[in-house]
Amino acid sequence: MKMQQDLDKLKKKNKIFIKTFGCQMNEYDSNRIYDSVKKIGYEKTEKYEEANCYLLNTCHIRDKAKEKVYHEIGRVKKIFRSKKKPLVIIAGCVAQAENQEMLKREPYIDLVIGPQAYHKINDTILNYTKKKKKIEDTEFDAVSKFKYLSKIKNEAGKVSSFLTIQEGCDKFCHFCVVPFTRGPEYSRPFNQILDEAKYLADNGASELILLGQNVNAYDNQGYRLSDLILNIEKLSEIKRVRYITSHPKDMTEDLIEVYKTSKKLMPLVHLPVQSGSNKILKSMNRKHTIEEYLNTFNKLKEINAKIEFSSDFIIGYPGEEDQDFKDTLNLIERVKFINSYSFVFSPRPGTVAENLKLIEKKTSIERLEKIQSILFENQIRMNKSLEGKVINVLVENLTVNKSKAFGRSEYMTSVIFNGKKNDIGKIVQVRIKDSNRNTLFGEVITNLDQKVA
Ligand code: SAM
Ligand code: SF4
Ligand code: F3S
Repeated sequence: MKMQQDLDKLKKKNKIFIKTFGCQMNEYDSNRIYDSVKKIGYEKTEKYEEANCYLLNTCHIRDKAKEKVYHEIGRVKKIFRSKKKPLVIIAGCVAQAENQEMLKREPYIDLVIGPQAYHKINDTILNYTKKKKKIEDTEFDAVSKFKYLSKIKNEAGKVSSFLTIQEGCDKFCHFCVVPFTRGPEYSRPFNQILDEAKYLADNGASELILLGQNVNAYDNQGYRLSDLILNIEKLSEIKRVRYITSHPKDMTEDLIEVYKTSKKLMPLVHLPVQSGSNKILKSMNRKHTIEEYLNTFNKLKEINAKIEFSSDFIIGYPGEEDQDFKDTLNLIERVKFINSYSFVFSPRPGTVAENLKLIEKKTSIERLEKIQSILFENQIRMNKSLEGKVINVLVENLTVNKSKAFGRSEYMTSVIFNGKKNDIGKIVQVRIKDSNRNTLFGEVITNLDQKVA
């Protein structure tokens, strides 16, 4: 009894703070790291200054990713200047790309763990605590990672929960570091995913967002993403299903067909096209043409005219001429993307495009501003068109001051309205009164626990 009390006391002393950068897969991983280190007595804290373990889950996708990490370490050093140094762990995609180098360059870092070595995080921390030996572990072992994580409960407990189903990428787009930081494509076993989905549903999830760097490349013993969607939506607690991020080449017929039969799949397809020019797509090694992309678009629109598309765009890719940029603008005009992301091309170490001749920075910036103003206009127009209409909203939480409720439309737009605490997790009907680019504002009409497209 006494020993258990001592252990409990000891456990309470350990607090971990995780700062997460990058994509939703990093967010999922950070939550799973919390679930894992709980087993060795680490409690999650939102207050970084009280942590004795500080973990940075990093992203390597653009710009000075590496420098941002060292800058952040500098900040941590300052915060803890007059306190005991926390255990400092670098995880995520910069950890994978930089590995040993990080320990050499910054002695304040204690452990470096790549995204596919998280199954070893507890042992690595315990080992460090005992022997103070700095370790770098960047082995690609997705099988063990998910085997391990599947044995630990996913305690996300959120109305809208992420669920990683696939990891890594074999496509090697010429601009992208992901195949190097996340390793080869791996699809988690079908039943392992269904078990996690069921657990999340039993513990408060009403929406599941299936994640993967190439989520629609999911293939496990013949089971595809379409099979997962149709099986997950059988869970009565789950009211909405989404998936990100897809590659246009993997929009297979079975996935398109699911939009005919599924009752819970949301009508927003995030399908990054990057550029509207076939010449640029080819030089990016995207493995599809604009005509093929539009073919998918047309098929989905025919199935349900309410389906909308969003995308990522890379502006100023080497070789992008005025005509290529015009092709991108024409594609935007045709598809009318909503909620898209656009970035200026950033040369990444180790990629084919790293050494290509850059176009003038001024031109890239001008093009980015132009494309963003058009994409923002689309967003504003889409939101304005909903004013006066009644839409379905999945209620996620109350607003910070608790005076209103916060939820999301079927197109993922934030909605603020006069909801109540007991609406959380339900779908309610909201009449939209006002809007801006990112948010809809309205008044609740009634509860509705089913999808109306
Ligand atoms: N797998 C997804 C796909 O094929 O579209 C993309 C995943 S990537 C993590 C997210 C986005 O980052 C990409 O869609 C792309 O627009 C952007 N991105 C990737 N590398 C980039 C680079 N070198 N410069 C600028 N943006 C980049
Ligand atoms: Fe990167 Fe291309 Fe793979 Fe997407 S498909 S993760 S952009 S290499
Ligand atoms: Fe960034 Fe790695 Fe995601 S590079 S976007 S955190 S896969």
